Amino acid sequence: MLGNKHKTLGEFIIENQSSFQYSSGELSRLINAIRLAAKVVNHEVNKAGLIDILGAAGDTNIQGEDQQKLDVLANDIFIQTLKNREIVCGIASEEEDDFISINSNDEKHQNKYVVLIDPLDGSSNIDVNVSVGTIFSIYRRVTPAGTPVQLEDFLQPGNKQVAAGYIVYGTSTMLVYTTGDGVNGFTLNPALGTFYLSHPDMRFPENGKIYSVNEGNYVHFLQGVKDYIKYCQEEKEDRPYTSRYIGSLVSDFHRNMIKGGIYMYPKSSVSESGKLRLLYECNPMAFIAEQANGKAIGGRTRILDIVPTELHQRVPFFVGSKNMVDKLQEFLDKYK
Ligand code: AHG
Ligand code: MN
Ligand code: MN
Repeated sequence: MLGNKHKTLGEFIIENQSSFQYSSGELSRLINAIRLAAKVVNHEVNKAGLIDILGAAGDTNIQGEDQQKLDVLANDIFIQTLKNREIVCGIASEEEDDFISINSNDEKHQNKYVVLIDPLDGSSNIDVNVSVGTIFSIYRRVTPAGTPVQLEDFLQPGNKQVAAGYIVYGTSTMLVYTTGDGVNGFTLNPALGTFYLSHPDMRFPENGKIYSVNEGNYVHFLQGVKDYIKYCQEEKEDRPYTSRYIGSLVSDFHRNMIKGGIYMYPKSSVSESGKLRLLYECNPMAFIAEQANGKAIGGRTRILDIVPTELHQRVPFFVGSKNMVDKLQEFLDKYK
């Protein structure tokens, strides 16, 4: 049982604060705010099965409040928490058309970080009691503090991320994050509302035996991806691999990081850029993957080197154990 011999996330944040260069505690306070929002969202996600009892989205509940869809609710919770604590200068979310500027005309607010979030990832799994997640990504703004944030503060390549992480609302709720010095995972003890360091220094095994892809789209994939999938299924000494696909990027990634595997969301003849969003999904997961000895590519390029051109940009995404991603790359390169 996780208990008082394990370090809490709060303790971990304080201990590690001094290791950031020029740390003023701002990033620590920001991660603390995310920790708090995660607990609130966790509480809401856990009630999802009670929808028939509590009322569905669009209904009005007993207190006269409107019931919201969980992805909208998660979005509001993260935005409100970050706004209330005056801890960031801007937020961009998968659920919002445009970025949000915070206290932008107030010179006394010198906050230097922007946050990008996918508040509820895998939202189609909510109704069927399958695990979902939240993904976040943090950058230092490039425009001067005390002025309104601009689009360019958000359109930075992933290699400029200061921190990134995810929360997986699974059989247990876990918060996993990196500040560029390895990846650590914390499990929520729901009775106490405390995250404990349960998975220190998480690392992808270099080789894996799991491949995760929506094979229903197979006929639309590029030949290189098709060939790689056939390679995974081939009868050889260490193959066939096992196919596992939850349909929540966070959960599929989390399993593959622990067990060894590759996650793929390729482009296809029907979706030219794939489905996943560069800023809210691919960049943070790629940063975590690289910090955990894994690899993330978008075809021929490293995900973290892509220079974004728009907030909701989509890219093909391949992430996982190093040797598996390298093998896939070989197949892609055959059809250059
Ligand atoms: P979201 O719920 O934030 O829109 O993300 C869903 C994403 C990702 O989590 C998942 O891996 C992928 O969509 C599944 O897509 P398919 O249903 O096309 O396989
Ligand atoms: Mn998502
Ligand atoms: Mn989402």
